[in-house]
Amino acid sequence: MADERENFGSKLGTVLAAAGSAVGLGNIWRFPIETGQHGGAAYIIIYVLCIIMLGIPIMLAEFIIGRRSHSNAVGAYHKLAPGTQWKWVGRLSVLAVFIVTCYYVVVAGWTFEYMVLAMSNAFEGKHANDYVEMFSTFSSNPWQPLVCMVALFLITHVIVVHGVNKGIERFSKMMMPMLFIIAIILVVCSVNLDGASKGIDFLLRPDFSKITGSTILNAMGQAFYSLSLGMGILCTYASYFRKDLNMVKTTLNVCAIDTLVAIMSGFIIFPAVFHAGYELQPSDIGPSLIFITLPNIFQSAFQGVPALGYIFSVMFYLLLIVAAITSTISMHEVMDAYVCEEFKIRRKKATALVTACCMFFGVFCCLSFGPLADVKICHMTIFGIFDFVSSNILLPLSGMLASIFVGWYLKKKVIEEELTNDGVLRVPMLNVLAFLLKYIAPAAIGVIFLKNFGIF
Ligand code: PFF
Repeated sequence: MADERENFGSKLGTVLAAAGSAVGLGNIWRFPIETGQHGGAAYIIIYVLCIIMLGIPIMLAEFIIGRRSHSNAVGAYHKLAPGTQWKWVGRLSVLAVFIVTCYYVVVAGWTFEYMVLAMSNAFEGKHANDYVEMFSTFSSNPWQPLVCMVALFLITHVIVVHGVNKGIERFSKMMMPMLFIIAIILVVCSVNLDGASKGIDFLLRPDFSKITGSTILNAMGQAFYSLSLGMGILCTYASYFRKDLNMVKTTLNVCAIDTLVAIMSGFIIFPAVFHAGYELQPSDIGPSLIFITLPNIFQSAFQGVPALGYIFSVMFYLLLIVAAITSTISMHEVMDAYVCEEFKIRRKKATALVTACCMFFGVFCCLSFGPLADVKICHMTIFGIFDFVSSNILLPLSGMLASIFVGWYLKKKVIEEELTNDGVLRVPMLNVLAFLLKYIAPAAIGVIFLKNFGIF
């Protein structure tokens, strides 16, 4: 039999768990570079507008579905739209989160290895090419990345197996403040480097001439990815929300925390980049930024004070690990809740089953940098195809359908009841929100979807 459903215990725990799911590798390896290359503060303004017009309404839509149904991502549609085909939207999001988990944990595992390398001072005395060599030797090794991936899976497993309250909420309450403290220390160290002001200027100087249609699409995609929309995560977490939780406030807090961490990582990276005299290329995005470019930059930025460089690198990889784990536990939970409730399996068993399945497919993603590098599907490696299918197809599709479900299928009364907690709270601009959910969000995600296929 499935276990009794739990709830998040406190408002703070709820916000930190949801923010933990949003704050992840995407905030650190994508946002700062996108900002630097697409007009600095001008990009940040566009990004914040995307969060307001797209991120907030869709997050609220997922929260409404989750708390109203008090059920997992698939069960939610069974309850709110019984006998219809809407359940496929839930299934799509569970499939998306499964595929994302399989490849995300591989990269998250690499941060372990780099943390160990940083701790053992392995970056000392290395030159630019050594970092490329170091990364390709490590990622193509058949064993080391596998061990890291398994370690990350096991940590995630141990947290989620303890349940929503004692596992996810407790971990988030401990780790999110730690993530903030580490980020603040790194920002302070970085902005005090000589020449840091040039980096800050590069990040913040608004250059509206760089804003094009494609920049706006890019900012929309980034907002979508960064807030973990379309994966059923927010819907699953919301099914554990208490009935008296103010969902609008929670949404605003989560979006603010996620954006703040993304901007802070810009303040960590750019001052160090400019101090080291490095010129970032468009290709310095994603894993290559954090595993090749940044260790090199941190090393040269703190050449004068090697001890500081050592501490900076260790703390940076610790920041990445914490950000990654608070995201992987949320992904795991979507699948746990689904398996546990839909197949009436005990939580412990469901969690073990999910870990085993994801780990099995994760092995193929992991090995696609080494022994399976030549296995190509549609000209992509196994890792590449997992990333492409989930980020470009499944996530936007299920996000779009979720917003259509709330905007068009659910009665306005339901939305109103959920957002006002049955009339207890006053929620201004409900009509604006309904309009955004009905027209703007589906249209905007539709455009992102077409852009991913090169149609725009
Ligand atoms: N929002 C998290 C991040 O930015 O890393 C987690 C995440 C969301 C990972 C969506 C992957 C993904 F496709």
